[in-house]
Amino acid sequence: MNKHTEPLMVLLLLLQAYGSEAKMNIITSKLDVPVGDEIILLCKAGGEGDITWQKDGEEVDDEEIVFKVDETSSKLLIRKASLEDAGRYTCLCEFDSGHSDNTQIVLYVFEGPSFGSTATYHEFLEGTDGAVPCLVTGKPEVDVQWIRDKREISSTGTTRVRQMPDKTLVIEKVTREDAGTYICQAQIRGRGIYRELLISVVVNAPPVVRLKEEVKQVIAGADTNVSLLCLVDGLPQPNISWVMPVTFDPSHHHFNSDRSQLTIRSVSRADFGEYVCTASNKISESSATIFLHVFEAPQVVVSAEQQCVLVGERVSVACNVSGHPQPELHWLNKHTGHTIDSTSGRVSVVNGTLVLDEVVPSDGGFYSCMAVSSSGNASRDVAIFTQPGLPHDMSVSAGPTSVLFSLESPPTSGGTPITSYVLQWRQQPAEQWRETTVPASDKFAILRLNPYTVYTVRLAALNAVGVGQFSNENEVCTEGIQGEPDRPLLTSNAVKVEGTSFSVPVKLKNAGGSPLLHYSVRYRPSSDEAEWKEVQLPPTANNVSLKDLSFGSNYQVEVTAINANGSSEPVKVNFTTADKPTNPRSITKGIVVGIVMFLFLVVFLVVDATCCYTNRCGLLMTIAVKLFGQKAPVMKNLENGDDITKGEVHLRGITPIRDGVTGTQNSGQLAEITCDKAPLTKHEKLQLDRDLPSMDV
Ligand SMILES: *[C@@H]1O[C@H](CO)[C@@H](O)[C@H](O)[C@H]1NC(C)=O
Ligand SMILES: *[C@@H]1O[C@H](CO)[C@@H](O)[C@H](O)[C@H]1NC(C)=O
Ligand SMILES: *[C@@H]1O[C@H](CO)[C@@H](O)[C@H](O)[C@H]1NC(C)=O
Ligand SMILES: *[C@@H]1O[C@H](CO)[C@@H](O)[C@H](O)[C@H]1NC(C)=O
Ligand SMILES: *[C@@H]1O[C@H](CO)[C@@H](O)[C@H](O)[C@H]1NC(C)=O
Ligand SMILES: *[C@@H]1O[C@H](CO)[C@@H](O)[C@H](O)[C@H]1NC(C)=O
Ligand SMILES: *[C@@H]1O[C@H](CO)[C@@H](O)[C@H](O)[C@H]1NC(C)=O
Ligand SMILES: *[C@@H]1O[C@H](CO)[C@@H](O)[C@H](O)[C@H]1NC(C)=O
Repeated sequence: MNKHTEPLMVLLLLLQAYGSEAKMNIITSKLDVPVGDEIILLCKAGGEGDITWQKDGEEVDDEEIVFKVDETSSKLLIRKASLEDAGRYTCLCEFDSGHSDNTQIVLYVFEGPSFGSTATYHEFLEGTDGAVPCLVTGKPEVDVQWIRDKREISSTGTTRVRQMPDKTLVIEKVTREDAGTYICQAQIRGRGIYRELLISVVVNAPPVVRLKEEVKQVIAGADTNVSLLCLVDGLPQPNISWVMPVTFDPSHHHFNSDRSQLTIRSVSRADFGEYVCTASNKISESSATIFLHVFEAPQVVVSAEQQCVLVGERVSVACNVSGHPQPELHWLNKHTGHTIDSTSGRVSVVNGTLVLDEVVPSDGGFYSCMAVSSSGNASRDVAIFTQPGLPHDMSVSAGPTSVLFSLESPPTSGGTPITSYVLQWRQQPAEQWRETTVPASDKFAILRLNPYTVYTVRLAALNAVGVGQFSNENEVCTEGIQGEPDRPLLTSNAVKVEGTSFSVPVKLKNAGGSPLLHYSVRYRPSSDEAEWKEVQLPPTANNVSLKDLSFGSNYQVEVTAINANGSSEPVKVNFTTADKPTNPRSITKGIVVGIVMFLFLVVFLVVDATCCYTNRCGLLMTIAVKLFGQKAPVMKNLENGDDITKGEVHLRGITPIRDGVTGTQNSGQLAEITCDKAPLTKHEKLQLDRDLPSMDV
């Protein structure tokens, strides 16, 4: 067996299928044979006979080619087909039965088609004309068809993309859509032999940068992010790079994935400048510049937000403004609404500093340092406070014991509200001013002045800074209490305190609207628990005297004058009574006189009694004789109750002495007066009583 056994067996199998037919047949595996392939033709005659081969009418008798297989079939074998082997092959058979027959087939032999060195990758610049050759070879003839997306590309007409007669594909004015895969399909002419070559076409475009905005403006701020967009076109996709005015800082700068967008976070003034975006690919590169303007909102810094300054002094407040563009600085007086632009004078602005020389109250108030720029305005207020101004349009009116001020309008406040007013008064220019401070909301009144008194008064406003200038001085006379008496006048340096009595002269200058009714005197020991006692004195009284007070006590006395209209203010005096006498020898004058008189009486009576007893002379004797006659005993007469009455009369007021002499002797002097008289009638006794002066000590 040789290497042809296998095709043979195939043929044998085919033969079996056709075995029963008596028709001649050439069997072959293919009719189109590539150059170099083996060609096997098996001719089956269907009966025994002599089989011969002809090619294109000429007998093939080369024993290298033609083999007898058996009595009914012959094989034609060409080991390496060449183009010349193509042709009509005829199998002839002269059957043993005498008749002859033939059959024939046409064999095609081809070479290729092959694409040789055809490039399968082309790049074209967008807009240029592109030619894609298909260098196909093959025999006998090759036809070429360009195909894209399963559609044949026309080879006739004048379409932009077309196949040239030389099989080249031409793309005029290449567009991006032309990129893709093209197929060059080659066909052996007339035969179903095809070859395809895939050719890639790539379109390139130079980078182009388009900017949304060439100038970008932002206001700096921690919350401000700005994005710069660089729209890039080109094939292949260009790379983008940035050149920035500041060094790249990953915490500050952020790129998106293709770097076409640069985001700057928390834009600051330093970020301003040119941002150059460059797109590059293998074709070329292209740049564009974005200018970033960074503005800063104006800021104002003042050296003080509040200044208190005394009138007449100097105050200055510095102000700095910053921002971009550099703002203009203005000082504004908010009260007047005027801008202060003077650079000299009492109120001036020098290098941004507001200066007030010799401050006056009307300078007080709010000022504003303003920064004005195209990126906005800013301002900061400064309060300058000073003392209130001079009170104008003041009128003063007097009350009974008060002075009332009234202001038509409050004085200049000095920038901060007037909280209260200082009211001053005095009687004499040499005196110190006395003053009271009243809240601004109250009545401006000086109270509890003396009535009918001339005072000099003035007033000044007070605010948080201090007291303002005092008003002009006004003289005013208090009117006094209407209708009611003045306070009584007590001559205090004439106060007399003797033992437990007190006295002081009292006088009333003015009884008021109606005559004085009486004085009321209240007194009590100087302790808060003590009860007041009250006595009244007639209007004619010229002194206040109190008796039977306690020893060694402090007393308070209040004297008021009272008329039909009311009572005066009380006049008050304090005094202290003498200490209680503790030494028994400190006896009063009265007692001394009493004792002396007593001793004198005793001596007198003893002398008289002696005289009476011994010489029957003397006063007692005379009385005894007159009363009882010569014989009557003296003692018995004295015991007579009826007659003793006259003794009582005489001795009244010196009771302590009577105890010692009762029933014995009468007072010498009085006795002398009555000694010669007959006993008094009842009427006489009463008369005597009345005439006798009181012996009160
Ligand atoms: C700015 O960017 C930061 C970080 O991306 C972000 O957290 C922030 O919210 C952004 N601010 C604004 C105002 O968009
Ligand atoms: C583009 O950038 C990538 C990565 O940054 C780099 O590998 C590549 O070479 C760049 N191409 C060009 C054309 O610059
Ligand atoms: C204003 O700026 C100057 C100079 O920068 C500085 O010396 C001064 O203290 C600033 N004044 C205020 C009120 O900030
Ligand atoms: C104002 O400032 C400028 C520069 O800062 C300085 O030269 C000038 O003397 C200043 N003027 C006054 C009045 O201080
Ligand atoms: C800033 O102030 C100027 C002048 O006072 C005024 O004309 C302007 O309208 C103000 N601008 C803004 C944004 O308030
Ligand atoms: C004082 O009293 C008198 C008499 O009672 C009366 O006529 C007079 O109007 C009163 N004066 C005042 C001010 O009340
Ligand atoms: C004090 O007043 C009484 C009457 O009230 C009078 O009798 C007496 O003389 C006065 N004493 C003096 C010292 O004036
Ligand atoms: C009298 O004494 C009282 C109580 O001690 C005192 O409050 C008052 O001021 C005194 N008055 C005079 C006028 O001295």
